[in-house]
Amino acid sequence: MTILVTGGAGFIGSNFVLDWLDHSDEAVINLDKLTYAGNLANLVSIERSQQYVFVHGDIGDSALIGRLLAEHQPRAILNFAAESHVDRSIHGPGDFIETNIVGTFHLLEAVRAYWSRLSPDGQRSLRFLHVSTDEVYGSLSKDEPAFTENHRYEPNSPYSASKAASDHLVRAYHHTYGLPVLTTNCSNNYGPYHFPEKLIPLMIVNALAGKPLPVYGDGQQIRDWLYVKDHCSAIRRVLEAGALGETYNIGGWNEKPNLDIVHMVCAILDELKPRADGRAYRAQITYVADRPGHDRRYAIDARKIERELGWKPAETFETGIRKTVQWYLDNPDWTADIQSGAYREWVEKNYTGRTA
Ligand code: NAD
Ligand code: DAU
Repeated sequence: MTILVTGGAGFIGSNFVLDWLDHSDEAVINLDKLTYAGNLANLVSIERSQQYVFVHGDIGDSALIGRLLAEHQPRAILNFAAESHVDRSIHGPGDFIETNIVGTFHLLEAVRAYWSRLSPDGQRSLRFLHVSTDEVYGSLSKDEPAFTENHRYEPNSPYSASKAASDHLVRAYHHTYGLPVLTTNCSNNYGPYHFPEKLIPLMIVNALAGKPLPVYGDGQQIRDWLYVKDHCSAIRRVLEAGALGETYNIGGWNEKPNLDIVHMVCAILDELKPRADGRAYRAQITYVADRPGHDRRYAIDARKIERELGWKPAETFETGIRKTVQWYLDNPDWTADIQSGAYREWVEKNYTGRTA
């Protein structure tokens, strides 16, 4: 048996592919466009595995997807491929519309054509699992209950609007054509191989480089954090036992204001790699202008996946963040390789002149 993963060279996708090969004998085809966020260095440990095939390509290329499906006959397609960074979607929404909406549409069409030609047994067992985000639900005030699967869609950024559109397409392909789909909406992930444009890895790499730690606005926005390997185990569980057409929220019951996260990262670094001058890393914190349209709070109610599928996260935030900081300390070359010209251009675009 084989599964097809899209976006498997990105942060969550590569963690998922590695995790899959640790838990299963089934082969994985990894289709990835290798945008700035895709990094085959994440997968060097498995590149010679008989169980693993990498294909360079776009989810929007229906002809390529059709050929891959016909050749490998996967029993599941897991769609991780996306443009994923909110700040980039503010500077340039076009790629988000192209990949997250149009790309998902072409992928769905190719999978529908493949599914329609399968035997009745093959049709029954096929799964299309769409990996989505809690950001589609919009922003919560301080006292509102956490997002359930029935929460209204209220996306606020070009990124979340594009993910919301893709979720709706996936839903429609189930209701209209009967395509056997599953959708997961997860909270903020963190862990190894996280691209240092996102809050936690950016703070770690900037702290170690002696650079400012840019906190947007008052730093009191709340996110709900989940260690990436717990996200992977949840996806495996949904693929295994999720009910067709259903959506499952995934989260770790770990709401924290951004400033607390930055303080925790600094405190762990103070302990594991103290600054040469003996000062605390938190001295590097700088407050910068807020993100336009910044969502104030996300929180996931994960009771459905816990109750119906018996899934629970293995890590607490305290154990997961320590492992994460340690991973970045152990892998400076991974970070150095990423911080190429294109990365520096992004940092300049997003942070230069961004005064509080
Ligand atoms: P990422 O940006 O790190 O990786 C995205 C991957 O998709 C990259 O390897 C990139 O090369 C690939 N890709 C982009 N466009 C493509 C295209 N047109 N065709 C094929 N491949 C393409 O993203 P991530 O953080 O790993 O997120 C993965 C998925 O999980 C996304 O769908 C995202 O919306 C969702 N998600 C992310 C988080 C999070 O906290 N990072 C939380 C919930 C859900
Ligand atoms: O909630 C799930 C989502 O989490 C995913 O769908 C997205 O793909 C993922 O990028 C993430 O979105 P966020 O916008 O929450 O993540 P980010 O790491 O960009 O920012 C986290 C918080 O930290 C947010 O409130 C903005 C703030 N922030 C971010 C950066 C990059 C800062 O204060 N300073 C920064 O430099």
